[in-house]
Amino acid sequence: MEIRSLKFDGEVLHILDQRRLPFEFIDVPCKTEKDVWQAINKMMIRGAPAIGVAAAYGMYLGAKNLPLKKETFLKELKKIKEYLDSARPTAVNLKWATQRIYEVAEKNKDSKELKKIILQEAMAMEKEDAERNYRIGEYGSALFKDNDTIMTICNTGALATVAYGTAFSVIKRSFEKYKNIKVIALETRPYLQGARLTALELKEAHIPFHLITDNMSGFIMSKNMVNGVVVGADRIASNGDTANKIGTYTLAVLAMYHKIPFYVAAPISTIDPDIASGEEIPIEERNPDEVTHCGGKRIAPEGIKVYNPAFDITPNRLIDAIITDRGVLKKPFTESIKEILKK
Ligand code: MRU
Repeated sequence: MEIRSLKFDGEVLHILDQRRLPFEFIDVPCKTEKDVWQAINKMMIRGAPAIGVAAAYGMYLGAKNLPLKKETFLKELKKIKEYLDSARPTAVNLKWATQRIYEVAEKNKDSKELKKIILQEAMAMEKEDAERNYRIGEYGSALFKDNDTIMTICNTGALATVAYGTAFSVIKRSFEKYKNIKVIALETRPYLQGARLTALELKEAHIPFHLITDNMSGFIMSKNMVNGVVVGADRIASNGDTANKIGTYTLAVLAMYHKIPFYVAAPISTIDPDIASGEEIPIEERNPDEVTHCGGKRIAPEGIKVYNPAFDITPNRLIDAIITDRGVLKKPFTESIKEILKK
């Protein structure tokens, strides 16, 4: 079964509702930018690269009905961009994608062509995402070898992107290239992207794996059962500090203590050159119900206080390398990131 997070049919953006996985495969047809905003905000689609591409199509769906006078068009398009950007705050791919669409429209001379050009750009971004992720897999798999066990958190596979995934692409390519690759996937409380989505993708790809709860990771590492950790990213600051799913930082600290290499895998579009460090990355705080409930059932007493940050920041010193679609970046990241962005 081919797992696809989104598909544009020329008129409608079809989004696979990831909230219902792995049990139900429900198509959510998005006909307007509002539908796309809802799909991103309510996490029907999630994962940094996937929401970027969805937002690019959202820009087209909004632009489709705008008047052709260029000045008005751009003013309205900017509003659509800001609206879509507000769907989720942490993953920079969202703003990166809407900005790229906006700039393409701004540069275009012939206002009759505007809508066509926006659609072409969104389609190009979809295609590029798959190509970039494939390259991440190629570069990242060079860091592994026969018999390795790779630990990962959250979902970074085809569901979180257009195809292949980011950290998942490294895992998949390693599995294709080497003998006896195994995976340990963290369930990723509270939203359970690991248990619901990564387990589904690993199973579909026939990659041998064990699912663990997040708090088992230290013990498993202490038993020499892990050769490397690979995670995705929602935003990488220009010094390499990385925002990713809550629990990533804990995993990086544990990996350092156990002397296990810790890698971040992400396309260039996840790097935010405008921020100096992770301190500037906004962290999404989500509904407390996600913590007080599990699988729709209340598990904690009523009337209690809850923290629910959806992401954390892993400082650059805990990261051994950043695997991108343009190669593997080493420390010092401030320099290697600057160099790679020039290419
Ligand atoms: O809240 P989510 O599910 O959107 O968070 C996703 C992650 O943290 C992923 O690791 C990240 O977006 C990289 S996905 C290729």
